[in-house]
This record gives sequence, C-alpha cells and structure tokens, in this order.
Amino acid sequence: MKSLYSIENSYYRSVPEDLKLMAIEEKWFIYNSVTLGWGILDKNELEILFNPAGSDEKYCTDLYNAGLIQCNGQYIFLQEKELDEVITYFEINLTNTCNIRCKYCVSNFNYSQKAINMDNKTSTNIINALKTYIEEKNIDSVTIEFSGGEPLLNFNIIQKFVTGLANIKCNISYVIQTNGLLLDMSKIQFIKNNNMIQLAISVDGITEKQNSNRVDKNNKPILNKVNEIIKKIKSSQIPFSIVIVVSEQNVDNIEQIIQYFIENNITETFSLLPLLPFGIASENQITIEIKKYVEALIKLHENYLLQKNTETEQSIVERNMGVISSYIFSPGRGYICNQNPCGAGRKIVSIGPTGKIYPCYGFQEIDEFLLGNINDGYNFSAITDSPIAQKLYLRNVEEIESCKECPYKLWCNGGCVTNSYLRHKDIMQRDEIYCNINKSLIEKILFEYSDNDKMINYLRKIKKSWDTL
Ligand SMILES: C[S@@+](CC[C@H](N)C(=O)[O-])C[C@H]1O[C@@H](n2cnc3c(N)ncnc32)[C@H](O)[C@@H]1O
Ligand code: SF4
Ligand code: SF4
Repeated sequence: MKSLYSIENSYYRSVPEDLKLMAIEEKWFIYNSVTLGWGILDKNELEILFNPAGSDEKYCTDLYNAGLIQCNGQYIFLQEKELDEVITYFEINLTNTCNIRCKYCVSNFNYSQKAINMDNKTSTNIINALKTYIEEKNIDSVTIEFSGGEPLLNFNIIQKFVTGLANIKCNISYVIQTNGLLLDMSKIQFIKNNNMIQLAISVDGITEKQNSNRVDKNNKPILNKVNEIIKKIKSSQIPFSIVIVVSEQNVDNIEQIIQYFIENNITETFSLLPLLPFGIASENQITIEIKKYVEALIKLHENYLLQKNTETEQSIVERNMGVISSYIFSPGRGYICNQNPCGAGRKIVSIGPTGKIYPCYGFQEIDEFLLGNINDGYNFSAITDSPIAQKLYLRNVEEIESCKECPYKLWCNGGCVTNSYLRHKDIMQRDEIYCNINKSLIEKILFEYSDNDKMINYLRKIKKSWDTL
C-alpha cells in the first residue's frame, strides 16, 4: 500500500471543564481533573491556556507535556480512573502486649490484663485464607507485616507464616516491625536465611534523652540494649530500616540522629513518624508540635540529605518527602496511604491476635470498623464489597468539606482516615496532622525549590523509591 497520510501539524486545544483554577497571590494554580497534570501560571499564560490554538508552539508543548491541554484530541497521560480493589498488604498483629512500655504507644494496652497472643488455630486460618485469596485473585506479590504489640513475643507464628506460605506461586515480602529487644542469634539466623524478610527497628535517637519515651517495665532506658542488638544485626549483614517517632524529646536533633546512622554505615532507610496523640500518648499527654516536626524534616533534607544524596553514591530514603515528590513530579498514585481514597479496606487490612479483621491498624478494636473474624469463616474476598469498606471508599478528598477549596487536594487525600476518625469520630473530616505536613511540603516544593535545579534533581531522585509501591 502507498499512502501519503500523515498528521503534519499539532493541533492544541484546552477542555475548560477539565481545568480547575485557584488563585495564589498573583498567580494561578491550575490542575486538570482528568490527568491530574498541573502548573502555576501568570495572567498572560492563563489566557493562552484557555485559547492555545495558533499560539506559541513551544509554550503549547509545555502545557501539553504538563497534562493541561490536549494535542490532536488527546492528553499526554491520563490519571488512573479505577483504583485497584485487591488487597496486597496484610498487617498481622501477633499480640496485644509488649515487653516494654513506650510512653507514647498508640496502642491502648491494658498491661494488667492477661495478654492475648495469636494462637495456632488463628494463624492457620489466616494462612489458609491468604492462600485461597491469592489464588482466587491471581495476585503476584503481597506484603505481610508483623506488628503488635511486640511481634517478636510470638516469633513461632512468624516462622509458621514464612514456612506455611513458602511454596505458593506469589512473591511474598515480610516486614517485622519491632522494638528489636528480643532479637537473639537464632531469630537473626532465621531472618538471614529468609531474605524476603525485612526488619524495621524502632529507635528514636542516639542519646537517652532522645530515646526517653521508649522505656522498659521499670521505666528504665532501653537504648543501650537496642544499640547492642543493632550491632548484632549489622554484623550479621541483615539490612534493616529505622523507624523514628519524632517527639519534643528528639525533634531538635533529627539531623544529628540520621547523620549518626548514615556515617556509621548502619542504615540508609528511615521513616520519620510524627508522634500521634492517640492511645497511651494521649493519656500521658505526650505530643509534638507539627510545625516543629515539619521544620525538622525540611532542615534534614536541605542541610544534610541533599548533599549526601547528590554528592555521594548513597541513596538515602526518607518517606515523607519521597512520597510527596513522587506525586508532584509525575502521574500515578502509588503509595497506599496517599491514594484517594486511601487503601484502607481496599489495598490493606489489619488482623488482630484473635483473628478480628479491620481495614487498617488505627481501627483496631473499634467495633464500628470490625469487618469480621477469620475464625468465623470470614474471608478476604468479602472485604472490598463490605459496607464498612464501601463507606471508606466514599472518603474522596472532593467530598471532604474542609478540603474542597484547597489547591493541593490533587496530591493530598485529606490525610489519614484513622487520624480523622480518632480525632473527630467522623471519617469525612480532614486529618489536621497530615494536612499540615502535606501542605508545608507541597508549598516548599512549588514555591521555593522549583527554581533550584539542584534541589529539584535531588527530589526527582528520591521520588523513584515510591513510584512502584
Ligand atoms: C505500635 S508499634 C508495634 C511494633 C513494635 N512494638 C515497635 O515498637 O516497633 C508500631 C510503630 O508505631 C510507632 N508508634 C507507637 N506509638 C506511636 C505514636 N503515638 N505516634 C507515632 N508512632 C507511634 C512505634 O514506634 C513503631 O515504630
Ligand atoms: S511502640 Fe512498640 S515497643 Fe513501644 S510499647 Fe508500643 S508496641 Fe511496645
Ligand atoms: S487535608 Fe489539608 S492539604 Fe490535604 S486536601 Fe485537605 S485542606 Fe488540602
């Protein structure tokens, strides 16, 4: 066949009903509700946006590349319309008690009551239900996180899961979220032999003051013991990440703490959690001012991680900035907690030691969110259609009254649904904690870092860790 057919000219046009505008100072913040592409425009640029045909080709290409206008009838990318409804993250809480007594623990333990540890029957039922679900949905990879309470109090059950699920046709990654104190050589060896197990160790600092919220049953510091364990794990060459709860006790030293772990080659992977004012933290009135938390996070990136990540081969991961950057710099919403609506009861579930299933960790032991019990035959495929999960799916940021006028709602889902519930007893409220964090980081990137090539290249580098989650 011979044909001379070709599209020679690019024809640009905007679809006004897809464009949402918000004024910020002298500029316009625009996003496209179909692509979630965005831009900050001045008045002249705004006029061309609504009437691009026939105007400057270069500028039109920029608008097209940003996902704001169409070229030859099509957008450059589209946001994913349907959010996946297959659960791939299973949090399994192996006990409702702990070997230590953190002063801020989110859990509402009653240490005087008899502890409940997950038993053989419950774990067998979970393993069987997991096998059935994975096969039925043809899932190729899942993550199982063991938490609690302190999951190492019930290590036999961890072993049972790992061996019980060893031969199924699915990649299973395990995370053990632990205070680390019960890690002896035999447990370390088991973890080493099973390299799909990742360890996340909670430690808040490198001095007793910084770690002073984490104490033993006699209110004595545990830091020296944790340090010994960390040395042991390190010498066994097991990779692990560190989870730091940022409180008034360590907020002024975050950079020093991270620097210590990096300079001593201990780990390059960190989660910096803001202290949440729930559970025992609320009884003890232990808090963190979120403004201080955000300032510490920003200082850490600007003063230390930027230099470390750009001038060395190191690739240091800090979750908050990584997730926000991945949303601002490219389409897609990978991270379960920041999807809109979030993944509670859709991508993630949390199972308690007696087999009770909840949509997420923060809903543990709240009857209103109890999906069912694995020991009563409740199965994972019933979750996504359950009235509880369906109610959670309605928590779209567009439906949260106090978020409606927010320019940043395309990147924020109104914060964490469990935080909203625990504070307001209403899931349709915004979560003020992550509202403040997200807003501050987004504004930093848009209005300060955007003219700083070095910073932008750095953020593009760290965003990659969150693109595939
Ligand atoms: C409840 S613990 C359970 C696992 C294990 N016992 C541990 O400490 O790692 C899970 C994580 O939540 C963190 N955490 C506990 N209370 C918190 C709070 N009030 N705010 C934020 N994170 C908290 C812990 O430091 C830990 O990293
Ligand atoms: S944070 Fe972890 S280690 Fe601390 S009391 Fe709670 S469950 Fe135990
Ligand atoms: S929670 Fe805050 S930052 Fe997020 S969309 Fe709502 S108002 Fe905006």
